[in-house]
Amino acid sequence: MKIACTGRSRALGARIAESLGAGIAETSISRFPDGEIYLRTGPLDETTVVVGSLLSGDSLVELLLLIDACHRSEVRLVVPYLGYARQDREFKPGEPVSARAVARALSTGVSRVVTVNVHKETVLSHFTIPASQVNLAPEVGEYIRGLGLGNPLILAPDRGAAPFAAEVASRGGWEHDHLEKTRISGEEVRVEPRREGAWTGEVVLIDDIISTGGTLAAAARMLLAHGAKAVHAVCVHGLFTGNALGLLRSAGIGQVAASDTIEGPESRYSAAGAIARRLREHPADAPAREPAR
Ligand code: R5P
Repeated sequence: MKIACTGRSRALGARIAESLGAGIAETSISRFPDGEIYLRTGPLDETTVVVGSLLSGDSLVELLLLIDACHRSEVRLVVPYLGYARQDREFKPGEPVSARAVARALSTGVSRVVTVNVHKETVLSHFTIPASQVNLAPEVGEYIRGLGLGNPLILAPDRGAAPFAAEVASRGGWEHDHLEKTRISGEEVRVEPRREGAWTGEVVLIDDIISTGGTLAAAARMLLAHGAKAVHAVCVHGLFTGNALGLLRSAGIGQVAASDTIEGPESRYSAAGAIARRLREHPADAPAREPAR
């Protein structure tokens, strides 16, 4: 088994390879003069685990090219961050179900797919191959334990993230709760407490994604105004779009952490162990594919 990674998932790919004791299929990626992506992999084994987060149009093309380049082996796909998953239904007539479009495209030439804390589990049903997700709640819990905060409140900014916050909190026996969020625009949200009362202790805000930072910044401002001693933020997928980190800091958030599903300076814990465990559950036993002509 070898691991082949797209350009934005090399560190995580290397960690997965190490966890599995697998080699890396070195992949060089460049561009043609017109901007099209070119890539080439080194020698492969019978099974290749292609690792690449879906962050943009280019990363989708990179993934599709890498899957195709590996077509002589059995390809398992790991998409640590599955972008386009938030458009998971037709909210207005005429819209695509973007999650379905990318899932179908990524099913071609692949035997199974693993992703991490997908925005909604129903998205997995759009893959036409076996698809599963791993849940980083234990890793988030261990990361928070390492912060040595004592007895933090684990708080989700909305109802959707509440079960995740509950799972994280169960790792340390901490209290958990969620806020009520109303999205006003792509960048602006209103966040309100569910109940009256003051937060006098330390709070860790938990979410699956930090994108613009608007959600957690609004939550932090509200919590600090209600008397919270300190507010920290931990997410799985740290997109940190534009000035998100500046926004979080100016809202008074102390520690900001994300996993390495999107690699960056705030990647403070890894998804590699959980992904490797899931890959081990399905031994590489499928026959190699016939070379396509
Ligand atoms: C939305 O439902 C997600 O769980 C996140 O809360 C959202 O993507 C965060 O976005 P932003 O950082 O732009 O507020």
